[in-house]
Amino acid sequence: MHQQQIDKLKAWFDDYVAGFYSDDQYVNANIKLKEMHSRRVCGEMLYLADALALSDNQKAIARVIGQLHDIGRFEQFKRYRTYSDTKSVNHCLLGLEILRRTNVLGDLDPAERQIVEKAVEYHGLKELPGGLTDQTLLFARMIRDADKIDVFRVVAKYQKLYEQNPDKFMLEVELADEPHCSPEVIDAILSGQLIDYSRLRTLNDMRLMQLGWVYDVNFTPTLKRIRQRKFLDKLLDCLPQTQEIRRVGEKILTYVDSRLKKQE
Ligand SMILES: [Fe+2]
Repeated sequence: MHQQQIDKLKAWFDDYVAGFYSDDQYVNANIKLKEMHSRRVCGEMLYLADALALSDNQKAIARVIGQLHDIGRFEQFKRYRTYSDTKSVNHCLLGLEILRRTNVLGDLDPAERQIVEKAVEYHGLKELPGGLTDQTLLFARMIRDADKIDVFRVVAKYQKLYEQNPDKFMLEVELADEPHCSPEVIDAILSGQLIDYSRLRTLNDMRLMQLGWVYDVNFTPTLKRIRQRKFLDKLLDCLPQTQEIRRVGEKILTYVDSRLKKQE
């Protein structure tokens, strides 16, 4: 991938996203959230690319994937005013459709274009499909990790703002802010399983699902980042301080620390 192609894609992204801002402040706040998320995920992709000692060309691909992975989010929010895929469309497939419709990847090498498209298409799946080529698998794994690092950051940051003033909160809250957690979600996390979006009932369930993402983290440098920034502790602090949640916390932190230790 040449610098010229990278610059062109960056300019295209800026231009594309700028078209979604309007006089609707609620839409703007949510579009901004995903715009900034996309930019930060580029940075997380570069962090991982460095940690994994990838080549300069692989770093360029990583960067582009970070930028484009959520390209479906903007049209999704404009059309449906929600980021909930279950209530609207699958934003990953919509993203792929946009990449094809706009032909923005048209001048990339076909093999590289396919890597980018697959990474966008698969980034939100509960689990990656089998049978992927080495390079497709590498980048699909990277974007899933980089995305999680930034979602943890966003959740921790906005949780505070929401608690301070829920009525003035301008971002979408997808689930009921009720004090309880669904027992099946707690069971899943205690038994080391990934949790499907469709099983979530409350905001606390969502927080539990996010804690459970650690089981799906592909690279140790990702876990290191998550642990260093205390994202897990922050999420746990938002949950009710019950015996069960304490068990969840122990299970998750022990799991992460044992993986980090293995790497040392
Ligand atoms: Fe996404």
